[in-house]
Amino acid sequence: MKIHDIDLGERPVVLAPMEDVTDPAFRLLCKEFGASMVYSEFVSADALIRSVNRSLQKIVVNDAERPVAVQIYGRDVPSMVEAAQIIERESHPDVIDINFGCPVKKVAGKGAGAGMLRNIPLMLEITRAVVDAVKTPVTVKTRLGWDHESKIIVELAEQLQDCGIQALTIHGRTRSQMYTGEADWSYIGAVKANPRMHIPIIGNGDIDSAEKAKEAFDRYRVDAVMVGRASFGRPWIFKEIRDYLDKGTVSDEMTLEWKMDVLRRQIRESVACSLARTDNPRKATELGGIMHVRRHLANSPIFKGIPDFRKTRIQILRAETMDELFALLDQAETLLV
Ligand SMILES: Cc1cc2nc3c(=O)[nH]c(=O)nc-3n(C[C@H](O)[C@H](O)[C@H](O)COP(=O)(O)O)c2cc1C
Repeated sequence: MKIHDIDLGERPVVLAPMEDVTDPAFRLLCKEFGASMVYSEFVSADALIRSVNRSLQKIVVNDAERPVAVQIYGRDVPSMVEAAQIIERESHPDVIDINFGCPVKKVAGKGAGAGMLRNIPLMLEITRAVVDAVKTPVTVKTRLGWDHESKIIVELAEQLQDCGIQALTIHGRTRSQMYTGEADWSYIGAVKANPRMHIPIIGNGDIDSAEKAKEAFDRYRVDAVMVGRASFGRPWIFKEIRDYLDKGTVSDEMTLEWKMDVLRRQIRESVACSLARTDNPRKATELGGIMHVRRHLANSPIFKGIPDFRKTRIQILRAETMDELFALLDQAETLLV
């Protein structure tokens, strides 16, 4: 599958953009385990234009993680165009992705993200203007519609395609659903089945196993699948899915010991990434990396089998040093073997 001239291979599996989750250290880890493409956390166009340090930091990409998409959100044409140009000039990503799907109040409530699903003319104007303003391929990520009564994605997909985007990611929920209920893939399948559509369609929502990823390809005929929450504390999910899609089995190399070592590495790399932060030296601390990674660890499915894991989970969420986290992982590992 190709996005413009970027070849993502057969049945690509990509890492979703996730705020406070998909920092460069995590993206690189997912890439190493087989993610075909990775996305940055979303960046506010307005903040980027004002050169807010944290936003400038978010658009930094490493060559090792390519192909990589940097995602922006905003609510008007001039700021979205200027932000896309800044990103193209400063970070040379492979793709610039526009977020028309974020449901949270502070974004959608102001008309950006999924809020744009209530103003389709503006959504299309922004998309057209951004496509025209940069040479980098532009893609869009959105939802089925604003609410149950307005699942407009089949028509919207055509309109977005006509604006010149190179791929479309669809999260199979409405804005009103936020993250509740189940993603409805039938609409994603309907977009894919529309003979007028020729750009790649990336399906997203609730992919948490290799079997579900395969079903998305086989049943809904998507060109790629995107994995979000199931990668928390489980960056190896990309290897599980890749192995299954390519060989029909999952490698037995991924033992408990192997996974625990991956999590230990994730801790070290998250801390190294935090220490390398240049936007705010006061935040370039071990604690910064720990705060980022401890949510991953607390949500890792690896610990599901531990009776009364709740206590350890709370300790993980309160840990402030690498040593504390390593000790908690050692303790959890003894309970699992
Ligand atoms: C913590 C968190 C942060 C997210 N941040 C973003 C974001 O910055 N941009 C975006 O397009 N979607 C964002 N999302 C939505 C995901 O990209 C994805 O669409 C959603 O989680 C559904 O996929 P999943 O079921 O595989 O998790 C976020 C989701 C979560 C849970």
